[in-house]
Amino acid sequence: MKKYYFDHAATTPMHPDVAAAMLEVMTGPASNPSSMHAFGREAKQKVNKARDLIAAALGCKPSELIFTSGGTESDNAAIIGAAAAMKKQGKTHIITSSAEHHAVIHTCEALAEAGYEVTYLPVDHTGRVSIEELAAAIKPHTGLISIMHGNNEVGTLQPIEEIGGIARANGVLFHVDAVQSFGTIPYRLSELPVDLMSFSAHKINGPQGVGALYLANGTPFEPIAHGGSQERKRRAGTENVAGITGFAKAVEICVNNRENKKLSLSKLRTEWLDKLKAALSGANGTEIVVNGNAEHRLPNIANISFIGIDTETMLMNLDMAGIAASSGSACTSGSLERSHVLKAMNLSEERLNSAVRFSFGLGNTVEELEDAARTIATIVERIRTNQ
Ligand SMILES: Cc1ncc(COP(=O)(O)O)c(C=O)c1O
Repeated sequence: MKKYYFDHAATTPMHPDVAAAMLEVMTGPASNPSSMHAFGREAKQKVNKARDLIAAALGCKPSELIFTSGGTESDNAAIIGAAAAMKKQGKTHIITSSAEHHAVIHTCEALAEAGYEVTYLPVDHTGRVSIEELAAAIKPHTGLISIMHGNNEVGTLQPIEEIGGIARANGVLFHVDAVQSFGTIPYRLSELPVDLMSFSAHKINGPQGVGALYLANGTPFEPIAHGGSQERKRRAGTENVAGITGFAKAVEICVNNRENKKLSLSKLRTEWLDKLKAALSGANGTEIVVNGNAEHRLPNIANISFIGIDTETMLMNLDMAGIAASSGSACTSGSLERSHVLKAMNLSEERLNSAVRFSFGLGNTVEELEDAARTIATIVERIRTNQ
């Protein structure tokens, strides 16, 4: 059976050049960058080279990047680390949104249990926070704002430059989860009013289990991992040299091609919506609604409600037809829980209960989309007939 992978927001296939770069490290000499001997120095050089390349791509200084085990650790380290440092200044209030990834929401919940005050900003029906509500939520003891860039479930982009401007004007630190936007939206960190930013390699055709945290020079920060003095004492633990090398290769491939990638993914997404609508026009007139913001959005995510068809039923049928999609974030889709993002967007029950996320990337073609759209029309017909 032919298989269709439309779940690139969950994880992406590794680029062959990334695998080759990692294999060279993994099959090469032993490499602990903290060792003083030649083997160690060579490993350190690899990590430094990767750091230089990623920093140049992001427009920051190499010393401002901390390698981590991925987006989740970066989010945890950013929020817990910045909150702990701000607490020393008497600032114990954190602002985030109700549409963040669980890596942010659950971290904030843990901090609330530890005595911090947390405000969860609402989002509008497209998933955007309101700048006015954000400004009004700031208190004299607010120390940190954590708002994501591109949403992983609906693709909505938040106005991070405006939010950062407000944060700066109020002396509040600003963390951005940029895990989903890094691959397609260009920015120069030195020009953004952002203090901390999270990245993950496996969303940009790099390896799983490696990522980075941008920590602008001078940002108050307490490390969450203690041990050796790796990463300038900001994240203890032997570096994942092969993973970091693969991450840098993925960044190199991605930034050299980001504009093209953005355009081609946007085109794929538009084709997908057109083809799906055309294929479904005969399927008992099943209505589809696209969730998220039509203007401010990632190019590769299409969150679609198939009105009247339950999400789980749809996902199960798609899976049986070889089509991989998702009901939202990977961890949410493992359970029957409704997406907290769609709930936060206050969508109608029928939209909430029928939403499926398709996300595109490396290897997807228009031909595949045509095939898959036809298959979906057949599935919809079948479900409708049996209902
Ligand atoms: C927005 C966002 N933040 C954080 C993460 C967690 O990243 P990782 O899987 O690298 O831990 C994800 C992964 O789905 C994500 O989409």
